[in-house]
Amino acid sequence: MPTRRDFLRAAAAGGAALALAPRSAQAADSRIDVVLGDSIGTIPPDLYGHFAEHLGGVVYDGIWVGEDSKIPNTGGIRTALVDALKKIKAPVIRWPGGCFADSYDWRDGIGPRQNRATRTNFWLNTKVPPGPQQYDPNHFGTVEFARFCRLSGAAPYLAANIRSLNARDFYQWVEFCNSPAGTTTLAETRAAQGEREPLKVSYWGVGNEPWGCGGDFSPEDYAVEFRRFTSWVPSYDVPLKFIGAGASSGDFEWTRRFFEKLTESSPGMVNRLWGFSFHHYSTNVSGGRSNDWNESKGPAVGFTMEQYYELLREGQLMEDYIHGHWQALGGKDPKRHVKLVVDEWGSWHKPGSEAHPSHTIGQISTMRDALLAGLTLDIFQRHVDKVAMANLAQLINCLQSLFVAHEDKFIVTPNYHVFDMYMDHMGAEAVRTEFVAPRVSYTRNGQPATFLGLAGSASRKDKTLTLTVVNPSADQPRETEIAIGGARVTSAAARTLTTPKLDSHNTFEAPDAVPSPAEKPVTIGAPFVFTFPPASVTKLKLTIA
Ligand code: AHR
Repeated sequence: MPTRRDFLRAAAAGGAALALAPRSAQAADSRIDVVLGDSIGTIPPDLYGHFAEHLGGVVYDGIWVGEDSKIPNTGGIRTALVDALKKIKAPVIRWPGGCFADSYDWRDGIGPRQNRATRTNFWLNTKVPPGPQQYDPNHFGTVEFARFCRLSGAAPYLAANIRSLNARDFYQWVEFCNSPAGTTTLAETRAAQGEREPLKVSYWGVGNEPWGCGGDFSPEDYAVEFRRFTSWVPSYDVPLKFIGAGASSGDFEWTRRFFEKLTESSPGMVNRLWGFSFHHYSTNVSGGRSNDWNESKGPAVGFTMEQYYELLREGQLMEDYIHGHWQALGGKDPKRHVKLVVDEWGSWHKPGSEAHPSHTIGQISTMRDALLAGLTLDIFQRHVDKVAMANLAQLINCLQSLFVAHEDKFIVTPNYHVFDMYMDHMGAEAVRTEFVAPRVSYTRNGQPATFLGLAGSASRKDKTLTLTVVNPSADQPRETEIAIGGARVTSAAARTLTTPKLDSHNTFEAPDAVPSPAEKPVTIGAPFVFTFPPASVTKLKLTIA
């Protein structure tokens, strides 16, 4: 059995040497080596987090249907959504934005619902039809959000307004949520809404995209704001985990400059942060033809083969960005106290496929998006030593959503199946896994280009090894020899998500066009060879001895 060192030496010497010389009569062209003894760390369940903003149909129509609705609800919250989130053990939900967060006054969303103010939504200019998505009635506020989280089994992650409110508003929001029953006027206000006991909110985002809609700050200006907003916040015995709002995609300089300024008077300032975020959307599928935000996008369905691979290529950049931001913040955090938080990620296609005109930036999620989800979750799991939380943008009726709903109609997307399949990784120990496979060729802007052949991650919990694998090739199956260094596989089962077309997707009319893949037993040969179908996401559940 080759060790990881053998594998790396062979790979370094001859690229795909191991893959081209499988030790079996079977014609495996690829190889996966799971190195059980090489732990990367425990997989934080929070890598499977969600994000819900007051944007289009996310909150109103998606989450909140109102207590008087005929749609099955629990205190106004869509029951089907809660049930589906419980099933995938949703760990954390970020709210109320996004860009919306920096125009939101939490005081508008507390107290008796009929007395709450209606406010202009940040996204008004996206020209949505009249409705709550345009002028927010504030029926869904802090308590409703906390209840939604509690019902779903998720922790709340609140993003605070630093552009248009001040530091006092921030710590009073903490007071409203966390001050013990009977201690403060805000605790009384909370109790009057039926929440006598503290909501115990730990995760607090300090702004959102401060380089853009969050205030057009420089990293230095934002670092000053971050210090001010976090310099005295009562904890009420709830561990407060502050998350600094960071850069977009590969802007490592933003991260470096923020930490430089943050620590200029005291290196210990890094301890204020539990996490530092960056956002990455997979959006530009132009093959290098354009860098224009709108022009470079492609359609959600009916995309070309080039656009298919380009979206996955954009997603794969996440791995470089994790490395880059990790390095950039490490200079001022040598003890590695601060972890990365990717609190917005996902695909962002051209408008036009939304389920309802009120669903601003709503889009159909296809098998291509499911592949992107698998690739990205696997990236996070390969870097659990660096990334502590990630939040898919956004939960429902929006970008790379898990759900689409309109009035009484509710469906899951192929992304949901991926979250469901990957669930066993949560809380397990990520172990180093090496993939060797022929690269996939495609044409990019008239030139030959390649993309990785196979990718994935593995984790171990007691006697169960979970191996998730994405085969991005649109047309080639990958016959793969799987070697588990340090254990014997005694039984195996697989769930494989794959569809007749790359843009197969669910609709209200055909909600199971992409069904949840069933688990099937797998025969374990010697060697153990498994074929990953083209354009597929697979979970292998292996019992090891
Ligand atoms: O998710 C949509 C928007 O994308 C968010 O509001 C913002 O943070 C990001 O630019």
